[in-house]
Amino acid sequence: MKIAILGATGKTGGHATKHALAQGHTVRALARDPSKLSEKDPLLEVIQGDATNVADCARLVEGCDAVFAAVGPQGMGTTTVRQDIARAVTAAMKQAGVKKLVWLSAFGVGENLAQARRTSWFATLFMKTLLKKTYVDAAAAEAVLRASGLDVVLARPPRLTDGPSSRALVAIPESDKVPRLTCTREDVAKWMLDAAATTSFDRQAVTIC
Ligand SMILES: NC(=O)c1ccc[n+]([C@@H]2O[C@H](COP(=O)([O-])OP(=O)(O)OC[C@H]3O[C@@H](n4cnc5c(N)ncnc54)[C@H](OP(=O)(O)O)[C@@H]3O)[C@@H](O)[C@H]2O)c1
Repeated sequence: MKIAILGATGKTGGHATKHALAQGHTVRALARDPSKLSEKDPLLEVIQGDATNVADCARLVEGCDAVFAAVGPQGMGTTTVRQDIARAVTAAMKQAGVKKLVWLSAFGVGENLAQARRTSWFATLFMKTLLKKTYVDAAAAEAVLRASGLDVVLARPPRLTDGPSSRALVAIPESDKVPRLTCTREDVAKWMLDAAATTSFDRQAVTIC
């Protein structure tokens, strides 16, 4: 596959870039500062741009089979960056005829707060206080992506950690409690890459853990 990656200079996107290349995929990554990408590989093309810009996203997605996105701001304050990126990348995908997007959202976003409530009052409290502002943007991005009509997979993991890959993540049904409240960024990146290669989760929001 030829995969376009948004957020390749970030932690989860960095793992995705490494694993996509190791799996033999061709990768095109968009970075605001390409010098932040240490990965060197003949199958990797890095282009400079901002993911909130439709023209930059158009150069990213042209000719790709799927788009992987693990983007977000630093900090937990008010932001619109996720929804701005969602608008730009979906517009670019429609122009280019690219249909598949796997997007990193989060456990408890939007209507998924109900599953968080069933799972842990403590995690829910965190979402409704410290994470409240950033979750507003995450939910707005989900709404933009759903309305796009594209084959979007919304991946909703709980808190991300930097530990090494430890297990294959699975989809947790919305009606179930989530068995653990953390998972590693590397495992999330691997699940999302797998989701890019199958239609099983298309047009779904999937709690993963
Ligand atoms: N932290 C958690 O526990 C948790 C849990 C569940 C879900 N999530 C979600 O996962 C996302 C990614 O997490 P992470 O830890 O991998 O994030 P990260 O390391 O902070 O990476 C964020 C990436 O987004 C990129 N980015 C932001 N704005 C951009 C723009 N306008 N144009 C291009 N690139 C842009 C950053 O690029 P630069 O290098 O240029 O800044 C960076 O590559 C979070 O934002 C959140 O939505 C997080």
